[in-house]
Amino acid sequence: MKQTPAPFPSARLRRTRQTAAFRGLVRENTLTADDLIWPVFVRDGEGIEEPVPSMPGVVRRSVDKIVEAAREAADLGIPVICLFPYTDPSLKTEDCAEAWNPDNLSNRATRAIKEAVPEIAIMTDVALDPYNINGHDGFVVDGQILNDETVEALVKQALSQAEAGADIIGPSDMMDGRIGAIRTALEAAGHTNVTIMSYAAKYASAFYGPFRDAVGASGALKGDKTTYQMDPANSDEALRCVSRDIAEGADMVMVKPGMPYLDICRRVKESFQVPTFAYQVSGEYAMIMAAAQNGWIDGDKAMVESLMAFKRAGCDGILTYFAPSVARKLATR
Ligand code: PBG
Repeated sequence: MKQTPAPFPSARLRRTRQTAAFRGLVRENTLTADDLIWPVFVRDGEGIEEPVPSMPGVVRRSVDKIVEAAREAADLGIPVICLFPYTDPSLKTEDCAEAWNPDNLSNRATRAIKEAVPEIAIMTDVALDPYNINGHDGFVVDGQILNDETVEALVKQALSQAEAGADIIGPSDMMDGRIGAIRTALEAAGHTNVTIMSYAAKYASAFYGPFRDAVGASGALKGDKTTYQMDPANSDEALRCVSRDIAEGADMVMVKPGMPYLDICRRVKESFQVPTFAYQVSGEYAMIMAAAQNGWIDGDKAMVESLMAFKRAGCDGILTYFAPSVARKLATR
């Protein structure tokens, strides 16, 4: 019997790649300004924009400048700005009381943005590290990070942020039980519409280095965070963290860092179908910027490609220091 040879090539997948129009037609994922959360660093003073050396293009801004930045972000269609305070070393203490001072930098910035740019949502960070004399996210006694005592402090911190007008509370501390405790306290205080984005799967990562410079915590940090942040070797454990945080009242969950943990993003989205975010952290930003500044990669293209990868992995949005640059680029395409 005569055999008909299989047609060659069996499929011409290049057909739908031949023009920009075809590529647009079959594109599976999109990246828009709606997907972006912009982390910014706040410092005291006035009229200040101070460069962070390990994060080219990123500055610490005084509150007046943060308000201007929030205006620009809102005009670019960025829905959320996320505040991180650079705390003066004189305000760092063992009891971390500055964390729930109603007039601390983060709360002052929140009120100023709310007043001037009401349409942008404000996310705040819940963790003690900017205020802690030893740089840890929780209280340290005899070299141990205390869980339950820290959670009580985090509740006070979260309440002061909600009081100031935060729309999204972002617990980044990795203590056990903090989501439930914060949710209960917010409900009791009448903050029923304040959302929680839990840093649910946050790994003990080397990629946070430049951030710790930016908030002035690197010099302070004694030891590492491996007894509370996750082991990079683990994946099932991330799902347990996410499931627990959803049960305790998180509205949205986050995986952090981003690029080396896209597998975790995918597993989380497929397992829970909740709003899922990734944090493209300071070290990821710094790597792309450093290579681009050396002329080793095309920085703009690498930025867009890296952010699209999060969408492909199943994320609903990304916290990224590139937010305004990529929003500007998307607007002119
Ligand atoms: C602190 C916190 C960190 C980041 C966000 N919140 C650093 C850390 O856990 O040491 C890192 C963000 C980044 O690297 O961009 N609770």
